[in-house]
Amino acid sequence: MTATVYYSYSGNTRGKAEESAKASGTDLIEVTMKKPYGKLMTFLAGCPKAMSRKSVPINIGGDLKKYDTFSIFMPVWAGHPAPPFNALLEELPKGSSASLYLCSAGGETSTGEATKAFCESKGIKINGYTDIKS
Ligand SMILES: Cc1cc2nc3c(=O)[nH]c(=O)nc-3n(C[C@H](O)[C@H](O)[C@H](O)COP(=O)(O)O)c2cc1C
Repeated sequence: MTATVYYSYSGNTRGKAEESAKASGTDLIEVTMKKPYGKLMTFLAGCPKAMSRKSVPINIGGDLKKYDTFSIFMPVWAGHPAPPFNALLEELPKGSSASLYLCSAGGETSTGEATKAFCESKGIKINGYTDIKS
């Protein structure tokens, strides 16, 4: 069973995730930060964490254990998935698989292969990777 999971800071990724979940008929689960950043902190704290693939504490609006396949929608910060992505990877059931959708202003990232490898190192099989201009 598949879930569409997303984090969104300013709403763009939410829109993409909602469209995709509706089109595919999958459950939609939102990830939020336990201590949301103000705008300045997204750059001062969020970008360095994204670049070093560090986690932040998250809340997950659904029971991930019910699913074995995930469509994950994440904003790109400093060329990397925003830090809630790294926290989410720790919470996905081991052995599950995921398709990644990275939403960015530029619409392309050079770190896709490294992101896929990072997921695989956490025991998550990657079915696909898509950059989305958002
Ligand atoms: C802290 C921060 C860093 C960002 N870094 C990048 C970047 O490196 N490359 C890019 O194309 N867009 C970058 N963006 C733009 C976002 O990826 C883009 O606006 C995305 O659609 C935001 O999704 P959201 O509205 O769901 O948060 C950045 C935005 C923020 C807030």
